[in-house]
Order: sequence, then C-alpha cells, then structure tokens
Amino acid sequence: MTLARKIIIDTDPGQDDAVAILLALASPELEVLGITAVAGNVPLALTQKNARVICELAGRRDLKVFAGCAAPLTRKLVTAEHVHGKSGLDGIVLPEPTMPLATGHAVDFIIETLRREASGAVTLCPLGPLTNMATAFQKAPDIIPRVAEIVLMGGGYFEGGNITPAAEFNIYVDPEAAEIVFTSGVPLVVMPLDVTHKALTSRDWVEGMRGLGTAAGRAVASWTDFFERYDTAKYGSIGAPLHDPCVIAYLIQPGLFSGRHIHVAIEVEGRHTLGMTVADWWRVTGKDPNAMFMGDVDRDAFFTLLTERIARL
Ligand code: BDR
Ligand code: CA
Repeated sequence: MTLARKIIIDTDPGQDDAVAILLALASPELEVLGITAVAGNVPLALTQKNARVICELAGRRDLKVFAGCAAPLTRKLVTAEHVHGKSGLDGIVLPEPTMPLATGHAVDFIIETLRREASGAVTLCPLGPLTNMATAFQKAPDIIPRVAEIVLMGGGYFEGGNITPAAEFNIYVDPEAAEIVFTSGVPLVVMPLDVTHKALTSRDWVEGMRGLGTAAGRAVASWTDFFERYDTAKYGSIGAPLHDPCVIAYLIQPGLFSGRHIHVAIEVEGRHTLGMTVADWWRVTGKDPNAMFMGDVDRDAFFTLLTERIARL
C-alpha cells in the first residue's frame, strides 16, 4: 500500500472550501497535516472559525487549525460576502466550534512543518488568497525547495475573471503574494475558472447529497444550494461551481484534469487587469513554463468521486 500524501490545506472557507476540506478528510490517499486559515472570502476571524466548524462536522476535532494572515501583503482586504454570505458558510446553521484554535501563527506552522518533514514530502494546497504562502516563502526561503508541489485554485484565462473582467478572486485579493508564489520555482498545478466553471453541481447531485441522510451530506447540499443562487444570477448557469474541491480531486485522481505546462505571469500593475493570470497558453513568449495550467475536467467522474467520498463521512 502506498503512503498517504502529506498536505497542508490553506483556506478561506467559503462553502466550496468546505466541500474541498471534507473531500480531503474523507480520502485515505491524503494525510492532512494541518489547516491554515487566511483572510479572503470573509475576514480571518470567520475563516479560522469556519475551518474548525468543518473539522467538527467531519468528526476531526484532533486536526490542527491555525490562524494566518489577516490582510494581504500590501493591499486592503477585499472580501466576498456577496457570494458566500455574511458568515462565509451561509446555507445551514452549524454548531459553534468547541475545538480550540491551534497555538501559533499559520505561517510558522507551514515553515516548521516543511523543515521537519523530509524534503519533497509536503504538498501545499491553497484554496484562497496566497498571503500565507508568500509570507512563509519570504520569512523562510529555505523551505521553498522543500515543497513537493503547490496545487492551488486561482486565476482564469479563456474564462476571464469573476471579481473583475480580468481577475479571479483569489489572485485579485493578493496579487503580490501570487507573484511570489508563481515565481518561486516550486512546481505549480493551477485550477483556474476555465476548469472550475465546468465543475457545476446538478440538481440530482445536490439531492443525492441531501439523500445521504448524514450531517455532512446535508451541509454539502445546503452550502451548494446557497452558493448556486449567486452564480445562477450572474452567469445564468444552472449549478454551483465547486472551485476548491478541484484541487483535492486532482491529488486523488489527477487523470480527471487536463491542461498545459506553460508560463503564467501575474499582473500586479494593470490599470484594468490587476490580478490577471496571464497564461501563455499558445507558448508565444518563449518563457520557461512555471505552472501546469488546467483547462478541462471530466465532470461526471469528478462528481462520482465526490459522492463516493462524502458518503464515507
Ligand atoms: C475562489 O474564490 C472564492 O470565492 C472561492 O472559495 C474560490 O476559492 C473562486 O474564485
Ligand atoms: Ca476559497
């Protein structure tokens, strides 16, 4: 039997972050070393609390949840209550968490874990703005070559942006942090909107989640119902895009996704394009690739995987 892959989930829950965390906790292929919260969809006080709510829902009070950066490296925090609701996890009322927040800063946990574990043993999974990642790399550059891989949700190219016409939310909130990560030299796998807007829930799938009759199934159905309203009003699409679960699904079944290994630059100055992921899809710059930029997902197999795993909780 192969050993479980060690991961740190860096997150700003967020209903889709929540489904991603549940998927990871239900999957024996992955060992979640810790969860680090960052400000994003809602302020840090809520994201760190929501991360603990999700762990308790999954029966994992033993997990360590750390609070990280409360604001982007240089900019004022932009949040997304218009998408995720006031709490960040609107859709169902869950009990206040009783498990404590772990002592110490998320950035120090990331640094200490990468120094303690064997080099190349830990994969980082950012599901929100990249502030914690970039801060860790700035504070402890020695950890950079020790990271196995970063698999992240962020950006968009053919699909455009979702917070501005050009930028996706996670990158837009902290473009300077994104630039540090994208130029770090760590192997990157990127799940942009081009992929995640294809990972749309269906009514049958949501009702299937509810029909599991479990606390996790009910929560997933209620969260995605809430989340769907925004995207349906905005795009006219039916279904909620499960952005962040794409990251975890890739770790379990990489063959679900296809893309290109290309150069991706982050726009940090653009008057209209701040936070854009400028993806050299057609390889016209001659620049060395720095990211596996995904473009497609086997939607049906993705939802089959999610159903099978959430049913285990
Ligand atoms: C990303 O932004 C957040 O709203 C979601 O949780 C996801 O990580 C999508 O743009
Ligand atoms: Ca997120």
